Amino acid sequence: MRPVLDGKVVLVTGGAGGIGVAACQVLADAGAYLAISDIAEEAGQAVADSLSGQGRNAVFIAADLSSESAIENLIAQTVAHFGRLDGALNNAGKEQHNLALDEITLAQWDSVMRIDLTAVFLCIKYQVRAMLANGGGSIVNMASGLGQIAIPNAAEYVAAKHGVIGITRAAAADYGARNIRVNALLPGIVRTPMIDRLSDDPGFSHLIEKLKMRHLMQRFAEPHEIGEAAKWLLSDGASFVNGTALAVDGGALAN
Ligand SMILES: NC(=O)c1ccc[n+]([C@@H]2O[C@H](COP(=O)([O-])OP(=O)(O)OC[C@H]3O[C@@H](n4cnc5c(N)ncnc54)[C@H](O)[C@@H]3O)[C@@H](O)[C@H]2O)c1
Repeated sequence: MRPVLDGKVVLVTGGAGGIGVAACQVLADAGAYLAISDIAEEAGQAVADSLSGQGRNAVFIAADLSSESAIENLIAQTVAHFGRLDGALNNAGKEQHNLALDEITLAQWDSVMRIDLTAVFLCIKYQVRAMLANGGGSIVNMASGLGQIAIPNAAEYVAAKHGVIGITRAAAADYGARNIRVNALLPGIVRTPMIDRLSDDPGFSHLIEKLKMRHLMQRFAEPHEIGEAAKWLLSDGASFVNGTALAVDGGALAN
């Protein structure tokens, strides 16, 4: 049987991070040709080198997603390298500052919005142009359970992730008839460097046990479990799945 992403060209942003690294492995194992991007150049290159060493087809392209021209260039480089773009996992993200809303500065708000929402808009913008030239594709945006609910001290992140679900639906409406599917993933808590950083902050750490109990499976996710869901959404197996917000959270949003 052919692997489900056999020869599909997929761009993964935030490919050097906790979920990103695991997702790249899952997607490569499913036969995807990967353009792996991150602002963290050494770590991102190491992911591509590791996959290439396993005989997978992977290239690292550095990009700072706070810049529109860097995003445009990233997608152009992906197409130049592989000849087309079939899928994208817009996964790069930045955590909140763990402050109550009235304590968040405009600069802090902007810095999270820029990566967690504006960069998703810009990635979709250039990805759909590349995909339209190629007859269609599948885009997966990394939202969060916090795209549907809130926790204290996270207004900028909660607002951005609600926005990711909104732009996912809007893009699905714009491009569904032209064979581009756009979906969002809503992970629960996943053990990654982002969660390690948050756990060191008293503005967040007091919530962690309560959040764990909210996950009906009473554990946090492993990063590859999010990658598995992305694999399905990027594959032809999800050919009629469009504009959805798929929770991968052990039941946290059901609680
Ligand atoms: N870990 C969780 O519990 C959890 C839960 C729900 C959603 N998410 C979302 O999943 C995604 C991945 O999170 P993670 O936990 O793997 O975090 P992480 O911090 O381990 O990885 C995030 C990656 O994004 C990259 N990045 C940050 N700013 C960038 C920029 N300006 N340009 C390019 N790359 C940039 C980082 O270098 C890093 O490699 C994020 O969008 C996050 O919001 C995470």
